[in-house]
Amino acid sequence: MSVIDPQHVAQILEECANKYVLPRYKQLQEHEIAAKSGPRDLVTQADIDVEAHLERVLPDLLPGSIVIGEEGISRGDMDIGILQDPSQTVWIVDPVDGTHNFVSGRREFGIMLACVIEGETRHSWIYDILGDAHYIAEKGEGAYRNGEKLEITEHRAPAEMTAHINYRYFPRDIQEQIRGAMSAFGESYSLSCAAHEYSRIATGQSDLALYSRLKPWDHLPGALLVQEAGGYVAKWDERAYTPRDDYAGLIVASCEESWRKAFNIIFQGIDIKKYL
Ligand code: IPD
Ligand code: CA
Ligand code: CA
Repeated sequence: MSVIDPQHVAQILEECANKYVLPRYKQLQEHEIAAKSGPRDLVTQADIDVEAHLERVLPDLLPGSIVIGEEGISRGDMDIGILQDPSQTVWIVDPVDGTHNFVSGRREFGIMLACVIEGETRHSWIYDILGDAHYIAEKGEGAYRNGEKLEITEHRAPAEMTAHINYRYFPRDIQEQIRGAMSAFGESYSLSCAAHEYSRIATGQSDLALYSRLKPWDHLPGALLVQEAGGYVAKWDERAYTPRDDYAGLIVASCEESWRKAFNIIFQGIDIKKYL
């Protein structure tokens, strides 16, 4: 039995969005935006305020729990290594996922949160702020969009699939080959927002996503959401994805059969073990 009230947590995310994110949408001042590792890797005052708020309030919901977030880790104030210790209860925050879209005035951004207990993702939340849609998942208890249970029923053939991929973080020497392989799918593009890509797969609008560079705040929430909606998520080495994993890649699919078909298409002729 869960001791967390998922609706209460969703309410907290909505309050954060209303207080710190929405008022700045298309209203960001220059001094509220900064680049991190490069010009596309941005942080805004909204990211910082949401993360700071969640850092204050989440520990009260689970005594002894610890909060880590993308921005605290980026500043070097928090330790991602805590995820290697299964005795710790850890909240993982992506305060604004799709920051580049948010800054550019596009619609695809959201707040993401996961709660890891005994080394596994037990709960996750994705809040699509402009769509006012709460995606909530609990391990073994299902996935929901605004209270409606999600069950993926569409299983399309590869030529009919919509796939999400951002080549930027892929090993350089296989980027072109993977680009060629992706032409087997109906369409493939990046939304530059993991929150929206995962939620589209969980609701059957998209079928597949291929990821490299596994930052836990980008992938733990959506992976649980898709799995609980009946989809299939596994690493490039075909093993289960856990909060301890960092840099290998992921395939996210609407079911195990689609996952297998995609794996064979994408990695045909590539010795994937070299990249794990
Ligand atoms: C980004 C998004 C995007 C992915 C990038 C992430 P951020 O998150 O999830 O989909 O391609 O790798 O950095 O930085 O906007 O939270
Ligand atoms: Ca992110
Ligand atoms: Ca972020």
